[in-house]
Amino acid sequence: MDKIVIKGGVSLNGEVQISGAKNSALPLLFATLLAKGQSELSNVPALRDINTAVKLLRELGAEIDAQADCYQINTDKIKSVEAPYELVKTMRASVLVLGPLLARFGQARVSLPGGCAIGARPINLHLKGLEALGAKIKLEHGYVEATAEKLRGAKISFDLPTVGGTENLLMAAALADGETVLENAAREPEIVQLAEALISMGANIEGAGTAIIQIQGVASLNPLRCRVIPDRIEAGTFMIAAAITAGNILVRGAVREDQEALISKLTEAGAVIQAEVDGLRVIGSKKLAPVDIRTSVFPGFPTDMQAQFMALMTKAEGTSRISETVFENRFMHVCELQRMGADIQIDGHSAIIRGTDHMTGAPVMATDLRASASLILAGLASGNTTEVSRIYHLDRGYEKIEEKLAALGANIWREQE
Ligand code: EPZ
Repeated sequence: MDKIVIKGGVSLNGEVQISGAKNSALPLLFATLLAKGQSELSNVPALRDINTAVKLLRELGAEIDAQADCYQINTDKIKSVEAPYELVKTMRASVLVLGPLLARFGQARVSLPGGCAIGARPINLHLKGLEALGAKIKLEHGYVEATAEKLRGAKISFDLPTVGGTENLLMAAALADGETVLENAAREPEIVQLAEALISMGANIEGAGTAIIQIQGVASLNPLRCRVIPDRIEAGTFMIAAAITAGNILVRGAVREDQEALISKLTEAGAVIQAEVDGLRVIGSKKLAPVDIRTSVFPGFPTDMQAQFMALMTKAEGTSRISETVFENRFMHVCELQRMGADIQIDGHSAIIRGTDHMTGAPVMATDLRASASLILAGLASGNTTEVSRIYHLDRGYEKIEEKLAALGANIWREQE
């Protein structure tokens, strides 16, 4: 296993190019199952999760050729409709094959993903929606066995705006008979890109990006061709890297409209953020003000930025409160930050952070994807050396992060553990 070593205390300066969005590339890869023929995706990030998705698609029978960030996917010879536990347990987004397989082949056998470090993360809302479209769902031996003669449009109201649930139902409804209305749908930029890609394939969708999405099913779809949008969470992570090291970074690919909540909180904390031609420039300040945040669905403050923002608040001059409302166990980074000298108390779904100027480097352990990023940020801002182990978590969602940070002046490298 690898670890990342950081000698902190350096202000980061320069510019960084953000890679394609993991949470857009994954549903787009699975959307190719909806159509025969050759699809093409560009700006696909080089991540472990993408490799897992490619492995799953190949197990289903897709032929995939990847040249750098450009993927050609041919789904003419799909020979299986089963997503096995071995793959689904390593990446829960594999459940996004349910909608496309049901819509095109009328059946799917997908392992239930099981829990993960940040929460139980059930898929009950996905299954309820697919049943509303006429699918027969059985849960047996840890698998979802789904069949449908022909999906029929329906009105579906989500109990909560689930990102994956909205994506699965968007893809299923695209080929259902008649109209589907998704109410209380997720509004993330990745949902908008998926809908736009489906429309370019011939789907009839209106309202993506709002809470109500209308889909008129069509008989068949054409292959997709699209360029993955930049990763707003990677961008946000580098924006915080500038703020936490009092640096000055142009984050190429950062999109203002996708970052409003983070921009507002970083500005409140004392950073200066300027929109430039193809990105956002973030100028950090040595003095950081404490800021309270409460995570929420888009366009609220993203849960995927909570751990990174907490690292920033460990340096603020005062006390801040961070409430996590989306997942039930997303404070795994707290114990590790405490090992680095952070003063954090957990109170139910909130963490109270008393900022300090003597965070010290320490050996720490990554527990999940965004917690890993939070430890890297804390290491960048701490004096002496931090070693982050189990960084396979990090490699799931950040492409070459240590190389990008080193190019900004950080003293950071990867070592065999
Ligand atoms: C997506 O996960 C992202 N993953 C997550 O990013 C992100 O944190 C999450 O959305 C929220 O923004 C991908 O896009 C691949 P949800 P998803 O369904 O779709 C509950 C990262 O770091 N829920 O919106 O699984 C669920 O338990 C990852 O890149 C149900 O109860 O998120 C959770 O508490 C981590 N029943 C909440 O809703 C359901 O059927 C949000 O889940 C579905 C969800």
